[in-house]
Amino acid sequence: MKSHHRMLEAEAWALLGRAPAVTLSSVAPDGLPIARALHGVIEGGALLFHGGPKGEKSSLIGREAVVTAHELVAEIPSYFVDPQRACPATTLYESVELRGPVERVEEPARKARALQALMERYQREGGHAPIDIDAPDYDRLYRKAVDGVVITRVRPRSIVGKRKLGQERPAARILAILEGLWRRGRSGDARALERIRDAHPERPTPAFLRAPGGLELRCALAADDPGALAQAVALVEGQYWNVGVDPRRIADAHRGASAWVGVRDGARLVATARAVSDGGKHAWVYDVAVDPEYRARGLGAATLRLLLAHPAVRTVSAVHLKTRDAQRFYARFGFVEVAPQVMSLRRDDARGGPAEPAVAGPRSLERV
Ligand SMILES: CC(C)(COP(=O)(O)OP(=O)(O)OC[C@H]1O[C@@H](n2cnc3c(N)ncnc32)[C@H](O)[C@@H]1OP(=O)(O)O)[C@@H](O)C(=O)NCCC(=O)NCCS
Repeated sequence: MKSHHRMLEAEAWALLGRAPAVTLSSVAPDGLPIARALHGVIEGGALLFHGGPKGEKSSLIGREAVVTAHELVAEIPSYFVDPQRACPATTLYESVELRGPVERVEEPARKARALQALMERYQREGGHAPIDIDAPDYDRLYRKAVDGVVITRVRPRSIVGKRKLGQERPAARILAILEGLWRRGRSGDARALERIRDAHPERPTPAFLRAPGGLELRCALAADDPGALAQAVALVEGQYWNVGVDPRRIADAHRGASAWVGVRDGARLVATARAVSDGGKHAWVYDVAVDPEYRARGLGAATLRLLLAHPAVRTVSAVHLKTRDAQRFYARFGFVEVAPQVMSLRRDDARGGPAEPAVAGPRSLERV
């Protein structure tokens, strides 16, 4: 694998840990290959699974295995970079491969811990007594089951993570891909765009993500974006419309947004805005705020402009919001007051869908 594609080991573990399922592959005792999709958990530097004593996984104990997981970031069609040739079509993804022997975990306390970890991962809401060998009702509730279940683990001889997000491509080609993703605007494209930018050493910034003062807009903030959620909550929790609202609810509202954009100055989030959209008729804009130190520099306007152009928002024919005193700020985007403190923007030219003309791509970027 090319070195620029290789993840740090901690990143490879993180990908393995967040994959909803992993694939365990090996050669069974009858000599035939075997591959199984499984739920696993990471404990003590190994990946653990559970199964029955007669199951196929148990037959793999003592054998070499490979465990894989992958995350699709985006399918990139060829016409993003070349109007004619199919060759630039590619898939951007992250993947991980862990190799090692399959071992049986015998110690009841470890088995119980692994099963409890599986429950915490896949039944996060709880609703059961903890599987804890020291708990008073362990014998009654779990001893027999834990003794009967087979816990296996793959302890890594090697773990290799691959990140293929166009890092090796020249910035001009990446820009064409970023612009293509924004135009296409399928679900997940805005987030993919941010991941590709983050991975690229030159961090190309398309024109639609440039903010005044040399700052960068972010078109898809996410709860896993370092610090974004806490910083957005901090920016909006003191505002008049959030008085008395539990900050956890504000955080949930950002997680549940159809679009959540902002401006960063380095690691600091200095502007934020989000929208909830039905994708066709209506969207509502909420929680628009700029850090007081950064106001009156055009960042609020840049943030709102990006939000209105976001794939989840630009397709609707009416965008609404409530404001007590910023009517003039919104009026310049075409919002009009339709009721006291309620403004709407009607856009009968809203783009209906993410269709992309297959031949009308940009000029060929074959040589960039
Ligand atoms: C409203 C807010 C987001 C604007 O952000 P900003 O970065 O300061 O705004 P910009 O610099 O992009 O200003 C764009 C224009 O809107 C005007 N404007 C900004 N805030 C305004 C307000 N509250 N009322 C009326 N006009 C306003 C500016 O004067 C500027 O006009 P100009 O270009 O003619 O000078 C920011 O002031 C803020 O966070 N306020 C507190 C939270 C809030 O009220 N949010 C809106 C709730 S609906």
